Amino acid sequence: MKFLVVGGGGREHAIIKKLSESSKVDKIYAAPGNGGIAALAECVNIKATDIPSMVEFAVNQQIDFCVVAPDDPLVLGMVDAMNEKGIPCFGPNKAAAVIEGSKAFSKDLMKKYNIPTAEYEIFDDPNKAIEYITARGEFPVVIKADGLALGKGVLICNTFEEAKAGVEEIMVDQKFGASGSQIVVEEFLTGPEVSVLSFTDGNVVIPMISSMDHKRALDDDMGLNTGGMGTVAPNPYYTEEIAAECMENIFLPTIHAMNAEGRTFKGCLYFGLMLTPKGPKVIEYNCRFGDPETQVVLPLLKSDLADIFMAVAEGKLADIKVEFESGAAACVIMASGGYPVSYKSGYAMTGIDDANVLPDTYVYHAGSKLMDGNIVTAGGRVLGVTAKASDLQTALQKAYRAVDCIHFTDAHYRRDIGRRALLAGKE
Ligand code: AMP
Ligand code: GLY
Repeated sequence: MKFLVVGGGGREHAIIKKLSESSKVDKIYAAPGNGGIAALAECVNIKATDIPSMVEFAVNQQIDFCVVAPDDPLVLGMVDAMNEKGIPCFGPNKAAAVIEGSKAFSKDLMKKYNIPTAEYEIFDDPNKAIEYITARGEFPVVIKADGLALGKGVLICNTFEEAKAGVEEIMVDQKFGASGSQIVVEEFLTGPEVSVLSFTDGNVVIPMISSMDHKRALDDDMGLNTGGMGTVAPNPYYTEEIAAECMENIFLPTIHAMNAEGRTFKGCLYFGLMLTPKGPKVIEYNCRFGDPETQVVLPLLKSDLADIFMAVAEGKLADIKVEFESGAAACVIMASGGYPVSYKSGYAMTGIDDANVLPDTYVYHAGSKLMDGNIVTAGGRVLGVTAKASDLQTALQKAYRAVDCIHFTDAHYRRDIGRRALLAGKE
């Protein structure tokens, strides 16, 4: 079968690596792909959001199956457009992708179906939002732009002044573009965060192994929020007991709620959870695989990913076994110095091959490209250096040993990925 994978980051590299291990897959195209993906797939220079060109390419190449990985083409309806041409896809249609595309939608869904989440109000008038924040008088308070904002549309405001400035930044200055014409103002929750990616065909939901992201740019969770600076799996805070509670109170109710709304979700539904003193609550839904969660989750998947993708598209996920290895995985992101603000690209990289031959180690490319046959940096997050082992501590040691092999100008990475996970239960 010929597969097309839409996207070009570390998440897509991890999906393509796993698909390339399937006996069902003869050929993989990636659009746009990147310098590392090029070793496993034929990269095609089409932007992930360019729906007409992507569909035209898929039709002309007689693609058998398309995997739409990033949020924006999903929210724009790429799956609907592919399906119209008879091309089956992994990923939700536009009606279901709204679960990530609009935070106002997802908050109202949770309220209507009693799914635990932070208390909130929605506003389209900045003055009303500021009045509400004043009357509420509790800080910190969380302000979120309604639409997609590259993971940056969330502000945690410690004072009234910060909150007022935040409302104005999002709604008046439109710092995150049109995604800020509506905002959600919500209660600040505390507790360990867990990412649970799940496969669902709208009938059954199969959670993958849990993971933990590290969102801040610097060690000890200092610095700005990023797309994610590293991940570990499994997440030790996510016990079997909590998993059972989440299945009953969050995962199944969400699938049923989407069906009841006529928005059946098929694809990877990502539950961003916070384990609060009052139980697990949903921080956010994503309509896709997480990045860099996928880089630690899929390496531990034992089952055939192509089979799972096709079963999801056909609504036959109940017939499939989804199994994970019992060990652990760790991913350390190597980023360009200055990320997430401003950084330079085009630096030569060395040592990736040395890292890739280390046992149970694999370097996923997030932002790289080939220039005259050499691999150079081409983005904020550059590489996701990943290793597996029977336990987390060893996986982390292996990942950092691989990081030590790799060099490029101004490389920046966190040295404390997994430190909090190793402390779980010992605090
Ligand atoms: P998001 O972009 O929705 O993933 O949010 C980014 C980060 O903001 C999350 O990973 C949380 O750490 C934090 N966050 C979002 N909502 C809340 C909340 N209600 N209370 C506390 N922290 C939050
Ligand atoms: N790592 C968080 C996300 O993919 O949204």
